[in-house]
Amino acid sequence: MKTLQLAPSILSADFSRLGAEIEEVANLGVDWIHIDVMDGRFVPNISIGPLVVRALRPLTSVPFDVHLMIAEPERYIPEFIDAGADLISFHVEATPHVQRTLQMIRKANVRAAVALTPSTPLSTVEHILPDVDMILLMTVNPGFGGQKFIPQMVDKIRQLAEMLERRQASHIDIEVDGGIAVDTVRAVTAAGANVLVAGSSVFGQHDRAKALAQLRQESAWTS
Ligand code: DX5
Ligand code: ZN
Repeated sequence: MKTLQLAPSILSADFSRLGAEIEEVANLGVDWIHIDVMDGRFVPNISIGPLVVRALRPLTSVPFDVHLMIAEPERYIPEFIDAGADLISFHVEATPHVQRTLQMIRKANVRAAVALTPSTPLSTVEHILPDVDMILLMTVNPGFGGQKFIPQMVDKIRQLAEMLERRQASHIDIEVDGGIAVDTVRAVTAAGANVLVAGSSVFGQHDRAKALAQLRQESAWTS
């Protein structure tokens, strides 16, 4: 049975005190920590790399959900595995070898996920479902925190949930990322998303406990 997972994105945290920021949300009972990796090529922004993941790893036992927004992800995946990633998602637009890359991640006993930008059709993942633990649907164009949710993505989430059901793959988690906040959480969860990435709607808030409680409360999932 799928359950709601809250995954605050550290992209909106205070980078001068990243460790303390992570410990704060970990103590508030978040399910995963979402770590955005950007290379300035696949997306027009540069964020953090495996050294930072490794440095943060000892601070908490909360699983690290590493979102690679980088070209040729297969070149760097071993480093992120070694640094302590528990789940790795990479973009289907970033490599011609999606299935091989998924298998590379799973072979290391790390959960494997594919990410799709808003314009990428669901058919790109339809035939590799047995190799996937989670599908990440971007609900903004990747690259920056604090962007506005793209409303047409609600329909895409619904279509993905239907596709998973049709292919007996409903156990695959559906993660949404971008513009997830109290005003969008109901629509995305009702459509079938169960993993919610939240950057500015958690780390951008003064009262993080309240922000997390509101997201849970607004979700269409019971747990
Ligand atoms: C955007 C990143 C997101 C980002 C979300 O490219 O993948 O994880 O942190 O930020 P918000 O929740 O502020 O839209
Ligand atoms: Zn992300």
